[in-house]
Amino acid sequence: MPPRQLFIGLMSGTSLDGVDAVLADFAEPRPVPRAHAHHDFAPELRDELLRLNTPGDNELHRASVAAQHLARSYASIVEDLLLHAEVEAGSVRAIGVHGQTIRHRPDAGYTLQLNAPATIAELTGIDVVADLRSRDVAAGGQGAPLVPAFHAAAFESAHGRVVVNLGGIGNLTCLPGGGAGTVIGFDCGPGNVLLDAWAMTHLGEPIDRDGRWAGSGQVNEHLLAALLDEPYLALPPPKSTGRDLFNLPWLQRHLSGAVAQSGPIAPQDVQATLSRFTARTIGDAIALNCRDAADVIVCGGGTRNQTLMRMLTDECSGRPVRTSSELGIAPEQVEALAFAWLAHAHVMRLPGNLPSVTGARGHRILGALYPA
Ligand SMILES: Nc1ncnc2c1ncn2[C@@H]1O[C@H](COP(=O)(O)OP(=O)(O)O)[C@@H](O)[C@H]1O
Ligand SMILES: [Mg+2]
Repeated sequence: MPPRQLFIGLMSGTSLDGVDAVLADFAEPRPVPRAHAHHDFAPELRDELLRLNTPGDNELHRASVAAQHLARSYASIVEDLLLHAEVEAGSVRAIGVHGQTIRHRPDAGYTLQLNAPATIAELTGIDVVADLRSRDVAAGGQGAPLVPAFHAAAFESAHGRVVVNLGGIGNLTCLPGGGAGTVIGFDCGPGNVLLDAWAMTHLGEPIDRDGRWAGSGQVNEHLLAALLDEPYLALPPPKSTGRDLFNLPWLQRHLSGAVAQSGPIAPQDVQATLSRFTARTIGDAIALNCRDAADVIVCGGGTRNQTLMRMLTDECSGRPVRTSSELGIAPEQVEALAFAWLAHAHVMRLPGNLPSVTGARGHRILGALYPA
């Protein structure tokens, strides 16, 4: 057996639900997850990260302080993960850490992931690979999505396949059969971000657990049509998006228009419509871009939303829809594992981006190294 090659991936995505950490062994051609941990963000940190997504007072100072809190929460989950896996820090080759996106503006030449990798290296004693998106943006790309390269490495099959990630934003990867052909990947629209925001507004809960509330409502066709009119949806890939576009004010604008047309819409009907909207944007994106896909593999926290999964199944034109568990990686571990994979690529001096996905001028080695 080849010696172990352990890497850690840390992901905290648009949903702002917290941090996922995966310890994985890269000794074999396909990485094998060995341990997983999830920590919810402390409510104050979550609130501050959410506020930092929009312009505000004294934000340079506030962002720097929040980055230090974030780095300490990353270091603490690494400590738990290693304890649980009974692995010494010295056995881990590197940590790949995404950071927290607070602005995503490739059109303006930048994407900003809040992070303090020097602090993570200091606290963990492990090499840290961070800032994994900016090199792709510097090369003219979107800097996103980055996971399709990993999806290709982990989920490629003899037949065409789509991998859908239901995170805060929904993104998909079209994998051509047998690894021959071009991989396409892009952000197709919101994943959970609007569902979470609407649940917070009306239930005072961070999520619509299992999609039960959405399941109690009826889809409103006026609102659905208004949401589907969003110009982002019709843009051809490469494209990426975030909270900069899909946020509560965006929803309120469309909702006001639909209410003016059709009268009041009950909150649970809005939630049902948002769920159908998310499923439809993904189904439409598959129909347009991944015609040869024989099956659909779904990952991310949205796999726990049964209403969303049922609607997604309806929208995939009869293709079997399964979660990534059936291929050996739990849905909530896929993205963190992708960032371990990107750290591994950095250490091996291999490119981590796919120009066909991000629109960059070429393959680039991603990230910056903060030695232990
Ligand atoms: N039991 C559940 N029921 C409904 N939705 C859930 C459940 N568990 C997780 N989610 C959804 O998944 C989201 C987190 O997914 P995740 O893949 O971590 O996204 P991100 O990468 O944006 O952080 C939560 O914000 C929530 O919307
Ligand atoms: Mg998350």
